[in-house]
Amino acid sequence: MHPDIAKILLDEQTIQAKVRELAARLSEDYKGKSPVLICILKGAFMFTADLMRQMTIPARVDFMAISSYGNRARSSGVVQILKDLDSSIEGEHVVVVEDIIDSGLTLNYLRENLLSRRPASLRTCVLLDKPSRREVPYTPDYVGFQVPDEFVVGYGLDYAGLYRHLPYIGVLKPEVYQKHA
Ligand code: IMP
Ligand code: MG
Repeated sequence: MHPDIAKILLDEQTIQAKVRELAARLSEDYKGKSPVLICILKGAFMFTADLMRQMTIPARVDFMAISSYGNRARSSGVVQILKDLDSSIEGEHVVVVEDIIDSGLTLNYLRENLLSRRPASLRTCVLLDKPSRREVPYTPDYVGFQVPDEFVVGYGLDYAGLYRHLPYIGVLKPEVYQKHA
């Protein structure tokens, strides 16, 4: 285990089994269609890659990079688009793939933004859900795991840009935050 990790919440086998399960559900639900997976950078890159690899229907992928706008505590719900989609999603079946839903502000904003582009349908698939932290109501269509209110890293999720490479999802040791604070 990485020395900065206090405990492993979800090990590699557990994550991969869940990814296969989600991929099977998507493949069934979108049978006969060819959805567009929208990977929300950077956190969802690993999840999206694994998910897509396990799907048995044709799918496209596109990428969007976003960041919270200004002070998060003020929670305006506005996020800034750092990189937009390359292609139009008009008439497409869209699945937004996100690493984690926390306050719900990001996905809430994204949903409105993407719906205005008139997709045929729009669903969201998140690996992790922290329901206790919700500030706006949002229920993702596909959820991998519910997690407690702890800051987690690994499998794409970062702290200060680090730990994304870990094949598991774990809780950081408090002294790591204190070191950076
Ligand atoms: P929200 O749902 O708008 O609050 O934001 C979700 C975003 O916050 C995610 O896409 C992550 O980038 C980030 N985030 C929330 N909780 C965590 C965590 O525990 N670890 C790493 N990133 C997190
Ligand atoms: Mg993110």
